[in-house]
Amino acid sequence: MHGQSEPDPPYSQEGQPGRGPAALRRSTRVVILTGAGISAESGVPTFRGPGGLWRSYRAEDLATPQAFRRDPELVWQWYDWRRSVVGACLPNAAHRALADMERALDDFVLVTQNVDGLHRLAGSRRVLELHGNIWRLRCTLECRPPWDDRRDPLPEIPPRCPACGALARPDVVWFGEALPGEVLAAAMDASRRCALMLVVGTSALVQPAASLPLLALENGAHLVEINPQATPLSRLAGEVLREPAARALPRWWAERRPGG
Ligand code: APR
Repeated sequence: MHGQSEPDPPYSQEGQPGRGPAALRRSTRVVILTGAGISAESGVPTFRGPGGLWRSYRAEDLATPQAFRRDPELVWQWYDWRRSVVGACLPNAAHRALADMERALDDFVLVTQNVDGLHRLAGSRRVLELHGNIWRLRCTLECRPPWDDRRDPLPEIPPRCPACGALARPDVVWFGEALPGEVLAAAMDASRRCALMLVVGTSALVQPAASLPLLALENGAHLVEINPQATPLSRLAGEVLREPAARALPRWWAERRPGG
């Protein structure tokens, strides 16, 4: 076995007795799964919590391909409003802690269900956006690749493809639509390989994202949940921090940062 590097031992939270939790190694394989809750303290509404979008709006009227075919103007008025809300928000300490984790760890993947773009704004680079990004548009005729458009408000509702003039749509995944194949495959692969998965701010109700932690567990990973509320994952997690992410995540990371 000479010359072959020893596989990284599974992560265990037990540190030296009385010395607090074990620090991560630079080589610890870490995957993060985030949901709307991580952006709640930045002012971005969640979906199902108090004041959540799906409490005031019907998803089937606004976030399905059928709704868009029926009334693209209504759908775009709603997305233009969501862009203006998100556009006024800044990353919080939880987003920033994840960007720091990416810099400090060699094998790190951030998988997000969020379309708000706040992870990238915080400096994260290795981000898999499962549900797309609200600041990106795509041509309904797919005459060209999706493009970034941060104009807020959009000067024209509904916006049109600058190349062919066809209707443009938000580059997000609507209910009933498939996730981008490559992104999902990369997220599943990373989940199978990781030694440690942090699940932050998701109700863990929407598939296939909600299955990624189960994939990680099946492959022996240690699961940490950060969420003020219980979720279907809570009973499976090795560690549960029942706190807001912007408080719990920076503290959790500070205690385990390689080299302290
Ligand atoms: N810190 C951590 N978690 C929080 C915080 C906070 N400050 N505030 C709320 N939460 C938790 C809630 O307790 C809840 O469990 O965040 C979770 C948000 O859940 P949802 O609103 O269901 O959002 P999410 O899980 O991201 O939804 C998944 O559903 O509507 C679709 O495509 C949309 O990506 C979204 C997907």
